[in-house]
Amino acid sequence: MIFAGIVAGGSGTRMKSVGVPKQFIRILGKPMIIYTVQKFAQQRHINEIYIGIKPDWHEFMDKLLDEYDIDRQRVHVIDGGADRNETVMNIVAAIKSVHKIKKGDIILTHDAVRPFVTEKIIEDNIIGALKYSACGTYVQCIDTVVSSGDGDTVDSTLDRSKLYRAQTPQSFDITLLDKYYGELDSEQKAKLTDTCSIFTAVGEKIHIVQGDVINIKITTENDLIIANLLATRV
Ligand code: CTP
Repeated sequence: MIFAGIVAGGSGTRMKSVGVPKQFIRILGKPMIIYTVQKFAQQRHINEIYIGIKPDWHEFMDKLLDEYDIDRQRVHVIDGGADRNETVMNIVAAIKSVHKIKKGDIILTHDAVRPFVTEKIIEDNIIGALKYSACGTYVQCIDTVVSSGDGDTVDSTLDRSKLYRAQTPQSFDITLLDKYYGELDSEQKAKLTDTCSIFTAVGEKIHIVQGDVINIKITTENDLIIANLLATRV
């Protein structure tokens, strides 16, 4: 089976000026998370979609799904975790509590706050996870990137041709994701900055899916301005 796990358990502390977690902010009148859920709901190969949310916002999310007429047979809301990967793993646990998961069943994990993910990126993640067991969405760096230890002077310029910026979805064979996360100790888990790092931490390869500059993560007020402009074009 093919699942989508939309992580929406954060509170958006870097988006200071709004009273709701940023995934609920409206872009041209529609909540950001609804754009995201609709993108996955439109992909007919995805069997079920799980949304990991902060428990306090569960009821709010349920109401939004009803308001936007989202098929509740296919879209489920569960409690998120203390950090992003814990939200992912809560989704995996929720899937396992209902379905008998076997090798070859995959999950596409995606940030609720990347509402402009494209149909092609979702399709390529499905293909990548089925073929390679683990894939992530990346765009090549176009800026020159430097390293600085003190934030004052530049130590070195990195080789840009080998640098990529990670986006989501990040997609996996569910049995392997569950196994490898279980093999990490709490110190290793605390160091992970995304879900693909679970695989790299145990020495497994991640296939690269081509991302898109439009697939932005909305983090700050500036991103919100860009998002409102983008939403008029897509
Ligand atoms: N996320 C999650 N569970 C958490 C923390 C984050 O599901 N415990 C989700 C967020 O809701 C978001 C995605 O992970 O969709 C990317 O995280 P980020 O942009 O860092 O979101 P926040 O943690 O909400 O933002 P901030 O770091 O500014 O508080």
